Amino acid sequence: MIPQSFIQDLLARVDIVDVIERHLTLKKSGANYFARCPFHGEKSASFSVSPSKQFYHCFGCGAHGSAIGFLMEYSGLSYVEAIKELARDAGMQVPDDGRGARRADEGHERLIEIVTAAAKFYCEALARSPQAAAYLQRRGLSREVVERFSIGYAPERHALQQIFPNDYRDKLLATAGMVIDNDAGERYDRFRNRIMFPIHDRRGRVIAFGGRVLDAGEPKYLNSPETPLFEKGRELYGFFLAQKAIREAGFAIVVEGYMDVVALAQFGIENAVAALGTATTPHHINTLLRQTDRVVFCFDGDEAGRRAAWRALENALEALRDDVTLAFLFLPPEHDPDTFVREKGADAFRDAAAHATPLAEFLLDHLRQNCDLASAEGRARLVHEAKPLVTRIPDAAVILRLQLVKAVAATSRLAQNEVEQAYGLKPAPRVSFPTSGNVPGGGARRPAMRRPPPSTVATLLRLVLQHPALAARLPVNLIPSDTAEGRALAAIVDLAGLGEAIGSAAALIERFRDTPHFEALDRLAAGQGEAEAEFDPAAVERLFEDGLRKLQADAIANEIAELMEQARTGTLSAAGQNHLNELLREKSTLAALIRASDS
Ligand code: UTP
Ligand code: MN
Repeated sequence: MIPQSFIQDLLARVDIVDVIERHLTLKKSGANYFARCPFHGEKSASFSVSPSKQFYHCFGCGAHGSAIGFLMEYSGLSYVEAIKELARDAGMQVPDDGRGARRADEGHERLIEIVTAAAKFYCEALARSPQAAAYLQRRGLSREVVERFSIGYAPERHALQQIFPNDYRDKLLATAGMVIDNDAGERYDRFRNRIMFPIHDRRGRVIAFGGRVLDAGEPKYLNSPETPLFEKGRELYGFFLAQKAIREAGFAIVVEGYMDVVALAQFGIENAVAALGTATTPHHINTLLRQTDRVVFCFDGDEAGRRAAWRALENALEALRDDVTLAFLFLPPEHDPDTFVREKGADAFRDAAAHATPLAEFLLDHLRQNCDLASAEGRARLVHEAKPLVTRIPDAAVILRLQLVKAVAATSRLAQNEVEQAYGLKPAPRVSFPTSGNVPGGGARRPAMRRPPPSTVATLLRLVLQHPALAARLPVNLIPSDTAEGRALAAIVDLAGLGEAIGSAAALIERFRDTPHFEALDRLAAGQGEAEAEFDPAAVERLFEDGLRKLQADAIANEIAELMEQARTGTLSAAGQNHLNELLREKSTLAALIRASDS
């Protein structure tokens, strides 16, 4: 555990604008900075960074958080890694608090060192092996692309002993997936006589390998096992190198194999990645959709390729959104991307990618092919088989889902609402878009979507988030604890009461991470941008005073109700009666003040 006080110092020291500016181009507008949101594909700049709150927020997709949160989302770091990175940039030393954490962390670093050393060794071994070099040459790989991907060669059975002469038996070598211990207690290298493709994490550190046999042999590709560094469902081969090209090209290509990624890059198509011996997961897709709004899956033209494409489609459904495009490129049966680009060239590949089949079309074609649409049974089967697919599409892609429902209905000769009923989907609301201006009495008017006004507590909490110093002025006993916001506000006031200095909104929210209050604070901070008036100190003061008065008025009203009840049951003492009179006077004074400020 990193001590909370350190995190608070750190957040006071770093400026979120600097942190984000290292990754995005920010433009200043008014008090805030704006950029195109890196977390969803967009043309406009809905991503805002507030220097006063030390918070970022995207009006388009709702992404939001502190500098720590940004590094976690953007660079895929863990909480602790994000803090360490910020600390390093700020020239601060992360203190150790508890040995366990440090040891676990050292273990992690050590695993990275082992794998990195192995990668370097494999590159050197490639230079020494004419046989391996000849293989790569036969596959048509240029020297540049071999270097770009740090491709290497794993020679004989105990080669790693050369770089780990004294600690070849170290447990961590097995944890890193580099060696295998057999039943007889012998240890040997996992990768032998294979071309080695290092797998990098999002920050470019080597975390695992894929190794291909030279020519024949089984298995053709051997991958590192899952290790503390390497979770297959999360990593994409080539992602670190492809990121920039994906953003520039405006789309990402997902292929099946290591060789495909490498060959495409050699031909100038650098925006390709591969899932690692697993089907593409929703996590993979979300990773890519943070860089771009279009993903093209390119599978081998054979039957296995089609099956893989269908699995990718199934896994992609839950990541769908109406503002993204997922498409499928089917190569001719005899090709994979590697052979295709070598034979037909980069332009032919780019052209094919541009004309890839949209997900909805692939889905419908696939179902139609599997059902006999001439018979009622066949059409029923199509409706049945489409159900688990269509219903997996989230509300974020409601329009696409609606289109699919309509297509399923048309194909099966049912009405749209019959399909919706069969799928347990709410019928789509009839939306009529306003045509020109506001014609009184004409057309269907949209019902006014009025939000309830924010509660007093919510307003106060919002003000305190923006101006933490206000917390010290709130009497904690006046804050009702019947809502999450009330409880969060009380917790902040308690903190202020303990004399803890509170910095920015972001620092305050980070202070409550891992507490029951985090969600309410985070939600509120992410809510609509601040009203302009709230930059004006006089307006803030007025709002705050009002809120305070309303809390007092509520507390008084509660007390009055209690005393009135005593009066009704005849248990009110003389002192109680006096107190009641006093409260009633106070109430009318406060009511007059509140009325005055409301008007
Ligand atoms: P392919 O068999 O299509 O290989 O497997 P490829 O990429 O075309 O390789 P070359 O051209 O023969 O060298 C596609 C991907 O499936 C995984 C690997 O990630 C491979 O790149 N795979 C395949 C394995 O993990 N293990 C295997 O034994 C085979
Ligand atoms: Mn191939």
